[in-house]
Amino acid sequence: MTGPRLLLRGAAIGDTTADSGLVHLQGQAIYIRDGLIAWYGPEAKLPSGLRPDQEIELGARLVTPGLVDCHTHLVYAGKRVGDFVHRLAGSRYEEISSGGGGIASTVAATRAASEEALFEGAKARLERMSGYGATTVEIKSGYGLDARTEEKILRVARRLGGIGIAEVRTTFLGAHAMPPGYQRSKEDYLREMAEEVLPRLISEGLVDAVDAFCAEIAFGTKELEIYYLAAKRLGLPVKAHLDQLTETGGGALLARMGAASADHLEYSGTETIAELASAGTVAVLLPGAYYFLRESRAPDVATLRAAGVPMAVATDHNPGTSPLESLPLAMNMACLLFGLTPAEALRGATANAARALGLADRGAIAKGMRADLAVWDADTPAELSYNIGFSPLHSTFVKGAICREDSRRTDANERT
Ligand code: NIG
Ligand code: FE
Repeated sequence: MTGPRLLLRGAAIGDTTADSGLVHLQGQAIYIRDGLIAWYGPEAKLPSGLRPDQEIELGARLVTPGLVDCHTHLVYAGKRVGDFVHRLAGSRYEEISSGGGGIASTVAATRAASEEALFEGAKARLERMSGYGATTVEIKSGYGLDARTEEKILRVARRLGGIGIAEVRTTFLGAHAMPPGYQRSKEDYLREMAEEVLPRLISEGLVDAVDAFCAEIAFGTKELEIYYLAAKRLGLPVKAHLDQLTETGGGALLARMGAASADHLEYSGTETIAELASAGTVAVLLPGAYYFLRESRAPDVATLRAAGVPMAVATDHNPGTSPLESLPLAMNMACLLFGLTPAEALRGATANAARALGLADRGAIAKGMRADLAVWDADTPAELSYNIGFSPLHSTFVKGAICREDSRRTDANERT
C-alpha cells in the first residue's frame, strides 16, 4: 500500500518507555511513508532529501501513539437501562443475569436485529471512540451464542474495520454465557462452539483471537480446557474475562495456554498473578465495569506491578456493565480507582494494549511502526488521564491516513 508521504511538523511527542516512564519531546517532526513511521526526531535534524507529498503543521500539539482499545463488545442491539435501574435499587449483577436480564437479554436483542442495524449502531460508537483517540479497536462477539448470530456479529466487526475510522481486531467470544434454553451441558455447548462453529468462522477470515468468560455464572476452568485447546490448535491467541466477580483459579489454565491477556482480575490473588507473570500474559484492567457495577474490590495493581505483569487499560464497552466509549476516561479511572500512574495508563492504552492483541507493529512512536497516531490539544502526556468527560483530541492518523479531524476546532484555528 502506498499512501501519500506526509511530514508532520511542530509536534510534541508524548510516549512511554518500557519501564513505564513518560517521554515528552518538543519540536519534533514525523515522516510517514507507506503508512509507516519512516523517521521521527527534532525538526532541526530533519534529513535532507525527504520528498513529502504533504506537510502538516501541528502547532506544538501533543502527538501520542494512536490509542488501542483492546477489549470491547461493540456490536450488539438494545440497551440495558433496566438492569442499571435494578442495580441501583440493590440487585446484584448475578441476580439480574439469572432472572433473564443481563447477557441473555442482549443476546435476544442481537439475534433479532438485522445485520444492517447492528452495523449502523456499532459504526456510530466506533466513530465516537475514534473521537476519543482510538485507532485500533478490538471487538468481541458473544452476544449471539449460536452459529448464525456469532457469525453476523463478526461479519459486522470486519466490515467496520474496512471503513477507515479505526483498525478492528475481532475476537470470538462463543464462551460468554450459556445460550438461553440450551438443553445439553456446558461441555457439549463449548465442544460445539470450538469444534464446529469456530473452524468455520476462521475459514471465513472472521476471527483474530478467542476469548471466554471464566466465572461461576458462565464457565469453569475444566470446561474451558477443550475450548482453548481447539483455539490453540487452530493457531489463535487466547484470552479470558477472569476473576471479575469472584476468584476462579483460572490463572493456571491461562498460563498453560500461554494466554495473550487476562482481563478484569478484580478478585485475582497473588498466585494467579504469579501464573500470569510466568506466561507473559498481559493484565487488561477495565475500570469502567468496576465503576459501573459499583465493585469495591479493585485489581491488585501493586502485586501486578511488582510481578512485572504488563498492564493494559480498555473500555470494555458493552451495554450491561460498561457503556463507556472514551479510552481517556478509562485511563482517568485506572489512575483514580486502581492507582495507576498517568504513564502506566498511557502505556496501558497504547503499547501494552497492542501487546494484549499480539500486535507488535503499533502502540509506540518509533521507526518502522505503523503510523497510527493521535494528535491532542494538550500540553503534557499526563493530561490525557486528567480530563473527565471531555476529549482534547484534535485528529487521528490510521496507517498514515488522516481519518478524523474535528472540523469545529480546525475552523477555530483557521480563524486565529
Ligand atoms: O466484560 N463479564 C462478562 N462480559 C462483559 C459483560 C457482558 C454483559 O453483561 O453484557 C464484561 O463485563
Ligand atoms: Fe468484557
